[in-house]
Amino acid sequence: MQRFETYLKENLPQVPSFHPIYEDALGVMLEAGGKRFRPMLLLNIVDAYEPMLYNSALPVALALEMFHTYSLIHDDLPVMDNADLRRGHMTLHKRYDEVTAILTGDALNSDAFYLIAKAPLREDVKIKLVELLARDGGSRGMVLGQAIDCYFENKPLDLEQIKILHTNKTAKLIAVSLQMGGVIVGLEKKEQEALYAFGIDLGLLFQIQDDIIDETQSEEEAGKTTSNDGDKNSFVNLLGLEKSIEEADALAKDLQRQFENFDEKLQDALGVTVRKYLFRHKQ
Ligand code: IPE
Ligand code: IPE
Ligand code: MG
Ligand code: MG
Ligand code: MG
Repeated sequence: MQRFETYLKENLPQVPSFHPIYEDALGVMLEAGGKRFRPMLLLNIVDAYEPMLYNSALPVALALEMFHTYSLIHDDLPVMDNADLRRGHMTLHKRYDEVTAILTGDALNSDAFYLIAKAPLREDVKIKLVELLARDGGSRGMVLGQAIDCYFENKPLDLEQIKILHTNKTAKLIAVSLQMGGVIVGLEKKEQEALYAFGIDLGLLFQIQDDIIDETQSEEEAGKTTSNDGDKNSFVNLLGLEKSIEEADALAKDLQRQFENFDEKLQDALGVTVRKYLFRHKQ
């Protein structure tokens, strides 16, 4: 984690110009912190199988965090979730203005692919990484999820549809973070697919827990605007808090079983990052 934080701080977008706030805006949300869940998942895989590739994987990990941060900056805009607080700081459109927030998101989206393209990895590996991030972050993944999320505000979906929504808006980026780690270390396709499937379930659990956070945590605790899902197709709105926690527990149990089937190296490396999600409601 510390290595990633140091790398991030040293590699914030540097675009000097006569624009008074542009460069600051590009970095502020990245620097603000957050759980760094997606980059850590990727780096855990690299650490488990090819620790010598750790440094070469850092730009790809940062690319994931940039891409995710772009999605959050846009998610907070007034036309989407209209949130004032993110990662313990004022959201970008509040701190600066909407134009700056939109353009910063656009820039981080493109810059993520630039970082991958320039990483010190084999060309064929990098093409695969670009393909996978575009597949799960773009029109077939995160963007589709966000489109459904916003289009169906105040239009109740059923549980299956909400799972599709959550899979796209959140789970695919989490799953692909694991798979991209697998590509960097050269795992077999089958092993990559097993990681991806685990990641989809993990991402679904992550989003159910995020829906629970919206209901149960203050904005100080969460570091972001909460009690903000009133119009949303969240798990809590469909099932109620208690049933959502039950659903999360059931999914966590299933994930524990999958996790225990991973080889020991992988369990050791991933454990730090995923254990608290898999066992959260047991404590
Ligand atoms: C928030 O993501 C949006 C969701 C997909 C639930 P995170 O909970 O990973 O946010 P940060 O990165 O820690 O700020
Ligand atoms: C956003 O989900 C998922 C993204 C793709 C950014 P939410 O809208 O629930 O995320 P938070 O609660 O604002 O972090
Ligand atoms: Mg949202
Ligand atoms: Mg939101
Ligand atoms: Mg949320």
